[in-house]
Amino acid sequence: MADQAVLQINGKTLELPLIVGTEKEVGIDIAVLRDKTGAVTFDPGYGNSGACESAVTFLDGELGILRYRGIPIEQLAGHASFLEVSWLLLKGELPTAAELAQFDAAEKSHRDLPDFAVQLIKSLPRNVHPMAGLAAVFATLSSVEGPTKDLEAGLAANELRLLAQIPTIAAYLYRHTEGLDFVAPDKNKAYAANYLNMMFKGTKFETNDADIANALDLLFILHADHEQNCSTSTVRLVGSAQAGLSASIAAGVTALWGPLHGGANQAVIEMLDEVVAHGGDVNWAVAQAKDKNSTFRLMGFGHRVYKNFDPRATIIKVQADLVLSRLGKNDKQLALAKGLEEAALHDEYFIARKLYPNVDFYSGIIYRALGFPPGMFTVLFAIGRLPGWMAHWNEHNAGKAKIGRPRQIYIGKNARDFVALNKR
Ligand code: CMC
Repeated sequence: MADQAVLQINGKTLELPLIVGTEKEVGIDIAVLRDKTGAVTFDPGYGNSGACESAVTFLDGELGILRYRGIPIEQLAGHASFLEVSWLLLKGELPTAAELAQFDAAEKSHRDLPDFAVQLIKSLPRNVHPMAGLAAVFATLSSVEGPTKDLEAGLAANELRLLAQIPTIAAYLYRHTEGLDFVAPDKNKAYAANYLNMMFKGTKFETNDADIANALDLLFILHADHEQNCSTSTVRLVGSAQAGLSASIAAGVTALWGPLHGGANQAVIEMLDEVVAHGGDVNWAVAQAKDKNSTFRLMGFGHRVYKNFDPRATIIKVQADLVLSRLGKNDKQLALAKGLEEAALHDEYFIARKLYPNVDFYSGIIYRALGFPPGMFTVLFAIGRLPGWMAHWNEHNAGKAKIGRPRQIYIGKNARDFVALNKR
């Protein structure tokens, strides 16, 4: 392949170097474009723009490949714990047994929240959306952030604390909105089991089932990173202004909240309820989703990058069956979702646009069966995504990256005079 691209503009010829990644992805380096030609590129939604070089995650949307630090998601999902995957994302290599034991012990010892964070949660309105609460707590945790270089148990101490505390924040937010007393972290329980305990102890959803905790751990792994998605790009962009780790994560949380991103898992359940209200007619839903005069979309379908299948969705579909049978539940929404998937996959509109179920299509069904209310679904996504956000924040700050500052093409009014108030 040629090692440069040639651009002709206004009678000038510009040679632009190519950047080739380890998986042979090709980028055209346009860093000199504006200086040399006065023009910028135009790519709303950034579908054709590489914002950085990154060594964290590789994904190939055409082939349905997702790898963290080179290791396929299918292998990690079957064999590693969420803590191992977090280490992998943050440090670049799988931990040794000794490293993992040290990390595990340190994580367990940092689960308690500072008192001000507990008080902050208690002060929020009972009907606060937990994603709003999560962003607020992360923003305030910046006040106890230590120097970036401080290490503990082989990890950046700031990262270790956020990883240990996010389940506690999430559980306390839930119990606050439910008017329940908080359940303190249990240092004898593993990551996901402790989270389930803090969430549901003393409620009808209380569980000590290790298989259920393992399934939740696996869901965290599936969400742990996804390269330059909306929330991760937000974390990197905010971090590029040299905002601190927790403050940058707070911004990532609010980006994730949106229904086109992490909020889709909640939107899927609401959509399935709507289909139920229409007699469970999946063909009605498919017709609505295709109707350009309707705002209805098949939530949990389609992806900016995956144009064949989402490997996470394949794993989650199997988990949905396992978890529901483990709980002895015959979930009508699962049957409905499968019917909807079947109908859409055979419909020309969805085939032509390469729209397939994504990670969110089945995850909400599992979460609901476990007892999580829809408002908590995106919080579960955030718990999983935290190590990925932090790995990218780190990567960005370790390099010589500039502050992120896109250009625009101005389409507003040309220069004109101010008109005094009494003349308008
Ligand atoms: N239902 C119906 N039509 C759809 C859907 C859908 N879910 N998704 C895309 N389309 C159509 C869209 O109308 C457009 O049609 P046309 O070419 O006729 O105008 C075409 O497919 C391309 O869609 P797009 O919106 O230009 O694609 P995008 O890459 O900008 O958007 C997406 C990707 C994920 C935002 C979109 O597919 C969507 O809104 N899906 C539903 C929300 C969802 O499930 N989001 C979770 C994404 S996975 C979790 C995560 O990583 O955040």
